[in-house]
Amino acid sequence: MSRAFYITTPIYYVNDRPHIGHGYSTVAADVLARYHKLFGVESFFLTGTDEHSFNVQKAAEKAGKTPRELVDANAQFFKDAWKKLKIENNYFVRTTDERHKEAVQRFITKLHEATTPDGKPAVYAGEYKGLYCVGCEKFLTEKDLTEEGLCPDHLVEPESLSEKNYFFRLTSYLDQVKELIETDKVRILPKERKNEVLGLFKQGLEDFSISREKATWGVSIPFDPDQKAYVWVDALPNYISAIGYGDDRDTFEKWWNGARVVHIIGKDILKFHAIFWPAMLLAAEEKPPDTIYIHGYFTVDGQKMSKSLGNVISNEELVERFGADVSRYLMLNMFPFGTDGDIRIDGFCRKYNADLANDFGNLVSRSAKLTKKPFGGKVPPFGELTGDEKALHESIKSSVRKCREQVESLNPNGAADSFMDVCRKLNRYFDSQKPWALAKQGKTDRLGTVLRTTLEGIRCVSVMAYPYMPNKCRELREILATDPVPKSLDEAESLELLIEGSEIKLDSPLFPRLEEPKTDMPETDAKESEVDNLISIDDFARVQLKIAEVLEVEKVPRTDKLIKLQIRIGEEKRQIVAGIAEHYTPDQLIGKKIVVVTNLQPAKLRGIESNGMLLAASEGDKLALLTLDSDLPSGATIS
Ligand code: MSP
Repeated sequence: MSRAFYITTPIYYVNDRPHIGHGYSTVAADVLARYHKLFGVESFFLTGTDEHSFNVQKAAEKAGKTPRELVDANAQFFKDAWKKLKIENNYFVRTTDERHKEAVQRFITKLHEATTPDGKPAVYAGEYKGLYCVGCEKFLTEKDLTEEGLCPDHLVEPESLSEKNYFFRLTSYLDQVKELIETDKVRILPKERKNEVLGLFKQGLEDFSISREKATWGVSIPFDPDQKAYVWVDALPNYISAIGYGDDRDTFEKWWNGARVVHIIGKDILKFHAIFWPAMLLAAEEKPPDTIYIHGYFTVDGQKMSKSLGNVISNEELVERFGADVSRYLMLNMFPFGTDGDIRIDGFCRKYNADLANDFGNLVSRSAKLTKKPFGGKVPPFGELTGDEKALHESIKSSVRKCREQVESLNPNGAADSFMDVCRKLNRYFDSQKPWALAKQGKTDRLGTVLRTTLEGIRCVSVMAYPYMPNKCRELREILATDPVPKSLDEAESLELLIEGSEIKLDSPLFPRLEEPKTDMPETDAKESEVDNLISIDDFARVQLKIAEVLEVEKVPRTDKLIKLQIRIGEEKRQIVAGIAEHYTPDQLIGKKIVVVTNLQPAKLRGIESNGMLLAASEGDKLALLTLDSDLPSGATIS
């Protein structure tokens, strides 16, 4: 994979504030671009804003601003959001940039001069009569409308519009475009979407309008300045204007003709990208893009995000809650990239706890902790390697290969699976080697090998996960006293890059556990997540459950739910905080034998340290503690 890589997102309408729907495409493109860089492939990542439209014109009038003032302010919201999400785009294109406008005029001139394969002018003047939805910025056909005759997305009646327009003779290019798609010269991914596009050809496609008479806020049509370029002929060329179409042929050659060109888009704009765009490029004598990847849409709590429903989640909100890196990971990994899915904040918390706090962060804490005593908190030396280390190494190498393949097929989930797989493999290895027992038995040599192997494996994860979570991985690499930024994915294939004797500086958990908000999960979701979260017996064995006796109980001031319990587990006394105050009084708890998870990382709830978690069953508003009705002593193990 040495060919340069050029990846784009849609350019977003500035009349909407950036939300996590926009964030989804942008993070995906960013992650894929960063992976390519890590593979040593030169990459260019473009995003930007779509700023000409009736909507902008109208919104500016309403706000008493000029359209320029409005778009300047609103484009900044997108730039700010991307900064928060640690997006590293190489260029931010705005359709109101002079450079873009000149490129669009050049492109339209090329179209105007072009002759179709059947010998006709590619652009012609005509009269357009149709039903136009201002919200969608497109003409709708009768069959697009709801039964009540409304736009299905905006639920408003489309306007009947008639005016002089210039048209692009799409119909003359359909055979060529269809062949490009059928033969994968323009590859449509995932492949089900290819069938969907091919289906559009069967339904029939018409020439489309490339200009508007009524608009004032837009790029003037060079051969008829009374007309402004219509949305798609203005927006789609952003992909070439940003890389020098018209003003920097060398750069354009490099990224458009020399690189693998990938457009990441949502399913709503498939037709324009897969059919209109290649057809226009053919007419303008430029090559079509190589790949168009159509990701799914997500709904929030089962509903489409909309201002009126008040369920729009901004990128900032997510970043405030989870931080940039975790938001990037969660946004992309709640459901497969190519399909639609639903997201819920509690689902985000569960996924975070399961993947990042447990499988990843906990492994870091557990292995770092065990280096303390015998090795003074330093990277231990390897002793003799056994078949277990060799098998683990092979298995990590195969995950690294998978990571590369998944990125090449533009599947960011596959890449995340590959590094989470490494975490799980390391956990299994760690648990099967029982390093805590080796420490007790004074088998320092073997303990060193197990810990060193695990730490090296964690370093491999810090390489593979870097494009998703650059800050966390940098932090982790600093903990491991290795270069903060990995140079190449190849580093993930080696198990001997740490420096023996360097200090492991872990002061607090890398991914502290989050308290999951309680929700009434619909039964179907619960079942689905049970299937998704199937764990192995090894995973289960990692959770230590013991019987504890409740000694003292105190309510936590200024909360309704929390209580502080002093408990005894065998000889050991501990404090835990639990959210059961609405269900039990202190009297009801003292003396009870309860079930506690004893190997959780300590957490602070309302500033009070909690060292373990008690188990309770709940349904709806009801909650009951799991208790032991036997004279078995506290400290007894549950397995
Ligand atoms: N300006 C046009 C695109 C022109 S590209 C040459 C446009 N803009 S948009 O602001 O409406 O952005 C649409 C894109 O935002 C979608 O294609 C998708 O990438 C992203 N998404 C918006 N809402 C989304 C979800 N709810 N879920 C996932 N992606 C979403 O169309």
